[in-house]
Amino acid sequence: MKAEDLKYVVKDRYSQIANQSKIQNETSCCGVGGCCTIDYAVFAESYDKEKGYNADADLGLGCGIPTQFASIKEGDSVLDLGSGAGNDCFVARAIVGETGKVTGLDFTDAMLEKARKNVAKLGFTNVEFVKGDIEEMPLADNQFDVIVSNCVLNLVPDKTKAFAEIMRVLMPGGHFCVSDVVIKGELPEKLKQDAEMYAGCVSGAIEMDTYVGIIHQQGFQEVEIHKQKEIVIPVEILKEYLTDEEILQFEKKEIGIFSITISGEKS
Ligand SMILES: C[S@@+](CC[C@H](N)C(=O)[O-])C[C@H]1O[C@@H](n2cnc3c(N)ncnc32)[C@H](O)[C@@H]1O
Repeated sequence: MKAEDLKYVVKDRYSQIANQSKIQNETSCCGVGGCCTIDYAVFAESYDKEKGYNADADLGLGCGIPTQFASIKEGDSVLDLGSGAGNDCFVARAIVGETGKVTGLDFTDAMLEKARKNVAKLGFTNVEFVKGDIEEMPLADNQFDVIVSNCVLNLVPDKTKAFAEIMRVLMPGGHFCVSDVVIKGELPEKLKQDAEMYAGCVSGAIEMDTYVGIIHQQGFQEVEIHKQKEIVIPVEILKEYLTDEEILQFEKKEIGIFSITISGEKS
């Protein structure tokens, strides 16, 4: 599939998801992964103990808690890429306080609408949601102290462009911390090619070493993986995409799907 077509699939999927509750996303057959593919509950971590947590903004779509390792400080200017209904933005707002600023960027109208309704209810004047593509952010250079993102960059076709943009909009001395899905080893093509699985954050995921390599290539320093979690795919799901023989190969090889939380600094 071409990059533009993939983005269309992603936007379409997340337009549907924006209007579903967290419980629907985690339990319904037509959750993020599409009918009978990966259930998002496999990825998501519980946010309800995080300061600033807002249940209306939590659609159960994350794969880590990047704000836990993002070293956000009071007064910081924070950008959240693929902000969805604003889950990480409101957690970041609780840290930056009145004097900081939080910007959420997303390209799905239904998500932006939901996030803006949430911020209106909360009455924050220093949280805004901007429409735009992570590969070409409509944002000025050198303006953010911290960039976070939760389970989004795997959906972006050109990860090199995404990290180049992160580098561009970060202030010198700023840093990013993202949670994302990556692959270890070689994932069978059939799994990767399936567009429904893509929207479920697996088929668009790239090899972990390649991911970390892109971050280094863009010039980030002090690159650190803070957390890794293996995603166990039930055999019933593998069976939809693979023959029995391929499933055996899958299990024997040192391959797998992981969620990681990784950070890096712009010098
Ligand atoms: C898995 S959801 C995560 C939402 C949010 N980070 C959370 O944890 O609740 C992915 C979000 O990224 C957005 N997204 C995907 N690709 C994007 C791109 N290229 N540019 C901007 N937003 C994108 C989708 O619209 C969707 O809202």
